[in-house]
Amino acid sequence: MNQRMTGLGRRGMMKVVGAFVMTLGAAVGLAGAQSGEPIKVGHYASMTGSEATFGQSTDRGIRLAIKEINAGGGINGRPLQLITYDNQGKSQEAGNAVLRLITDDKVVAVLGEVASSLSLAGGQVCQEKGVPMITPSSTNPRVTMGRDYVFRVCFTDDLQAYALAKFAKDNLGFTRAAILYDQTQAYSKGLRDEFRRYFVAMGGQIVSDQTYSGGDTDFSAQLTNIRSTNPQIILVPGYYTEGGNIAIQARKLGIRVPLLGGDGWDSEQLSVIGQDAIEGSYYSNHSAPDKPEMQDFIRKYREEYGSTPDALGGLGYDAAMVLADALKRTKSLSGKDVRDAIAQTRDLQGVTGMISLDENRNASKPIVIVQVREGQPRWVADIENPGDLRAVLEQLRKK
Ligand code: PHE
Repeated sequence: MNQRMTGLGRRGMMKVVGAFVMTLGAAVGLAGAQSGEPIKVGHYASMTGSEATFGQSTDRGIRLAIKEINAGGGINGRPLQLITYDNQGKSQEAGNAVLRLITDDKVVAVLGEVASSLSLAGGQVCQEKGVPMITPSSTNPRVTMGRDYVFRVCFTDDLQAYALAKFAKDNLGFTRAAILYDQTQAYSKGLRDEFRRYFVAMGGQIVSDQTYSGGDTDFSAQLTNIRSTNPQIILVPGYYTEGGNIAIQARKLGIRVPLLGGDGWDSEQLSVIGQDAIEGSYYSNHSAPDKPEMQDFIRKYREEYGSTPDALGGLGYDAAMVLADALKRTKSLSGKDVRDAIAQTRDLQGVTGMISLDENRNASKPIVIVQVREGQPRWVADIENPGDLRAVLEQLRKK
């Protein structure tokens, strides 16, 4: 599919994607011994736009999982069939895509999105329609909050922000941080808010706090301000396209300190865009390609696609595995029963760690810090989950 899409110009692609449906069952020929009707699963994703690698990687991870599930007999003899719609990285398109998956395609569950703002939009539709949704990778706490049909298989941004603050303060020994965040993305703003809280409680200082809007290309005013405040590190909790561009412009202005990103930097495109300017910078993520426990999955993924997966490949794979596990246990395929079965997920070994869903439908996973070296993310630290974060914050403030 990607080959076909890249053959089109950007404008031509936009026209095609609205009508584009990818049915996995047909694509892999439903190998295996299943006989029953396929069970339809939806995926809404940024297959195009400035976060395109998010959707593409996730879709590959999901397809790999479904291929394995179907080869192993499917869901009690019935194959899974994946239907993917592109949302172009736009909230409204995300809502439309989910509505279409539910009302036209009659999927039993929805996988997606990556970007938290899009999962908030899609999750609202799933909640209203009573169809369960599992986001592989949206980390903003609000995505699952108060929505009993919405689950995630990744950590949340209060923990991610704690890990970033701890790494900057304790591992790197820095006390002066500047921030440049995307005010249009729930993810970016949430990570900035939480980072401020933890870094200050740890005794650090936020010397400059600047904003941009996704899609911006000129960051020189904000970076000039940041330069004048003399930070030791700059938190850029946005997505990879802006992360790479900000790095380039920071270096042009003579700013030499490392940048610090969150999981939103996870893309091979970060170094394609940021080139030498991003070298040496750090970001937090769900996994690192050089971690020993990732090697099995990486080998399988390479065999299938000929490229190394980013964290999203693994998270997409895990989200599909959690759903398949629930579908094998559910009493029926009704939204309510599938929801209840997903909610009971405990100790499922995923490629990105052990997955247990808590009463708030979240998973708790360790956080990995990587550094960009020669264009690759290199694993530099694991930050343990300290447990009750509210208690941790109180402890820090008392010091
Ligand atoms: N956590 C990001 C968000 O919620 C999405 C993301 C996850 C991007 C993992 C890359 C890798 O918006």
